[in-house]
Amino acid sequence: MNTQSTTVYRASILHFLDDPDKAGEDAYEFFEDGALVVENGKVITTGNFSELEKTLAENVEQVDYRGHLLMPGMIDTHIHFPQVEVIASYGEQLLDWLNNYTFPAERQFEDKEYASKIANFFLDELLKCGTTTALVFGTVHKQSVEAFFEASEKRNTRMICGKVMMNRNAPDFLCDDVESSYTDSRELIERWHANGRQLYAVTPRFAITSTPEQLEKAGQLLEEYPGVYMQTHISENKDEVAFVQELFPQAKDYLDVYDQYKLLGERSVFAHGIHLTPREHQRFRETGSSVSFCPTSNLFLGSGLLDIAELEKEQVAYSVATDVGGGTSFSMLQTLNEAYKVCQLRGNKLSPLKSLYLATLGNARTLKLDDKIGSFKAGNEADFIVIDFNATPLMALKQSKCKTLAEKLFAMIVLGDDRTVKATYVAGQALHLRDSGGN
Ligand code: GUN
Ligand code: FE
Repeated sequence: MNTQSTTVYRASILHFLDDPDKAGEDAYEFFEDGALVVENGKVITTGNFSELEKTLAENVEQVDYRGHLLMPGMIDTHIHFPQVEVIASYGEQLLDWLNNYTFPAERQFEDKEYASKIANFFLDELLKCGTTTALVFGTVHKQSVEAFFEASEKRNTRMICGKVMMNRNAPDFLCDDVESSYTDSRELIERWHANGRQLYAVTPRFAITSTPEQLEKAGQLLEEYPGVYMQTHISENKDEVAFVQELFPQAKDYLDVYDQYKLLGERSVFAHGIHLTPREHQRFRETGSSVSFCPTSNLFLGSGLLDIAELEKEQVAYSVATDVGGGTSFSMLQTLNEAYKVCQLRGNKLSPLKSLYLATLGNARTLKLDDKIGSFKAGNEADFIVIDFNATPLMALKQSKCKTLAEKLFAMIVLGDDRTVKATYVAGQALHLRDSGGN
């Protein structure tokens, strides 16, 4: 189907080869006058324009983004597509927020047509913000996930999604049962996992809303379908942690509930993880499971300040995510801005290079997708964004005062949002081009 020939994009280029905390200056490549060469939706190479120019055929198509920064598309490791309209709901912490706002909103996704409408809106919003891959919750309804994958397939975006499994401690209209949660998930895996760019995640909402029998089925799915993901929530809120302890009195701690049902592993992503114990950190480390850090959500719902320096010290893998609709922005730039502030309150510094590493290669690594996305390594899928440092007068004024690359990137992150993203390309196709009129 794809009949594209070679295209060379000329711009400043930044991408990561490793974690800046581990590899220092060798962690990234920056080409002031750079080129990204793309063919049939894949990266051929990247480097200095002047050097690459000599190697290219004369008639090769050139797209000129000089004055802008080209980066890999950003990755969001935890977000709920049916919660678009829940964003900015006033006054509650987690458990009341779920009951009062989230569950009623998710009820609407029984209707496939509504689910399709919101899935399309959601993906367009992500692309506007420069996010090209996300690990996404659907609702309990199988059709919500069908609607989501159909919308993603249409755009050829690399997305991971799953049907929520929940069969207790929620309104009847949002509960499945042990058997239907298993068969619905199975059918979705068979239909969508590794179909084009789509991937499946087994999705028990959290320990509170699943019976032991349902969690066991979730574990069975992971065993039966190696390569699928697992996503859930953990230790976000203190009342939640206490309720889990009540429901599972035999468990050593919250993570142990999931551990007992074989839900831990390298493709298992646990959102929040704010109130974890040293033993839980150890199990995260031993199993290669990862925590998804959701700073805007953790602040908005008053959940707490995750200490990522502690996760680093304990060698717990972590990624960064928006958690819309608990989170307050689709923009990973805004998310990194808030992550910086959370680190400040914890007495730590989150550098701009580390931040952008996390949003790209770092998040790709926690999803075991770094052989496909997250950097401009030859052969990777050509998902990339074009950053406009000067998208608003304030951004332009601040940029004019920045001297180093690190200063420029930091100001871009702190002031940045969807306005900063001039273009978003998915597998070499421009899916979002921001018009200069400010939309
Ligand atoms: N824990 C269980 N469900 C949810 C959810 O939808 N959002 C957040 N932030 N936490 C949860
Ligand atoms: Fe969440």
